[in-house]
Amino acid sequence: MNPTKRVLSGIRATGRLHLGNYLGAVKGMLALQADEQYQTLYMVADVHTITTPYDVEELRRNRREVIIDYLAVGLDPERSIIFQQSEVNQHLELAFYLSAVTTIGKMQHLPTFKDKVKQYPQHNTMALLNYPILMAADILLYKAGLVPVGKDQEPHLEAAREIARRMNQDYGTDFPEPVSFKTEGDYVPSLTGEGKMSKSVEGSYINLTDDLETIQHRLSAAPTDSGQGKVEVVGDDQKSRRFVDQSGAESEGVANLLSLVELFEGEDKRNKYEADYQGAGIRYGELKQDLAVAIYEQLEPIQQKRRELEADPGYVDRVIAEGADKARQIAVETVEEVRQKMGLRQWQ
Ligand code: TYM
Repeated sequence: MNPTKRVLSGIRATGRLHLGNYLGAVKGMLALQADEQYQTLYMVADVHTITTPYDVEELRRNRREVIIDYLAVGLDPERSIIFQQSEVNQHLELAFYLSAVTTIGKMQHLPTFKDKVKQYPQHNTMALLNYPILMAADILLYKAGLVPVGKDQEPHLEAAREIARRMNQDYGTDFPEPVSFKTEGDYVPSLTGEGKMSKSVEGSYINLTDDLETIQHRLSAAPTDSGQGKVEVVGDDQKSRRFVDQSGAESEGVANLLSLVELFEGEDKRNKYEADYQGAGIRYGELKQDLAVAIYEQLEPIQQKRRELEADPGYVDRVIAEGADKARQIAVETVEEVRQKMGLRQWQ
């Protein structure tokens, strides 16, 4: 088998998955699982979860909850290796070896690191600095070439490529330089009208487990404007829009809502609303109601599957145990090879 055809991705165990995780990562994970030319490995990044302040009991619960989410959205243990990162010690071991070719300066300058330090100024830890190295280890351990993730993970992938190059140059390993696999929703905007949808920003997200009423409630709080004005096409790809209403104020909230409309109701619907904005005006109450229903229609079958899984804990336990076994079989080989190449074993 060609190892560059391996795929790996992970999601931190920080709580229930939201639409950003679903559209940015899970949709890509599902698409690659369905493609026979790939061997897919999908993990819960539970070790990454301890790099920012967390609650021990919550982590204990969430590392299992994400496995249930994976199964509920349609990841299939017959086709993908589904596992918890911390069950495969080799992730941590390889991360240390990779840290030998990674400079502190490089890690300190990553925008993702700077953001987290800003968010948790009291928690500027070595674990946080090592975050991208551990992520590189996750990917390189399986020699995965393709990584389904959202746009926000690009700096981490760039770091992983650089680490792979250094290892190959300095120690003669054959790590592929991993690239991301993008979905249509690789940047899902926040409901607050500012930035991306994120678990750590209250009011920004819709969870996969939300019922219709909760979705309606969350959308109703999303900021809008007077509903009438000019639409400007912006960005290199001509895909982004600026909405400027009659008062001259730009509304990022409206741009975000229409991105969600496009993702859940299609491009035609989005175009219709854009035309309304420049004509008779958008009625946001109706827009939000239709959008809530469209989102819920996609989530309802996932929630149904989740209830079935919750009723069968033995099955979930088996998936977790078997996934770890399968992942370990690949992981031990890579680590053995790296130890040999780095001089930590007699040459055989
Ligand atoms: P995490 O847990 O922050 O997010 C999981 C996945 O969801 C995507 N995502 C989004 N995509 C589009 N729009 C959004 N608003 C949005 N919010 C989150 C993320 O891009 C990600 O794909 N470092 C990773 C976890 C990880 C990993 C790995 C990923 C650890 N090791 C190895 C791939 C390969 C992270 O923090 O994801």
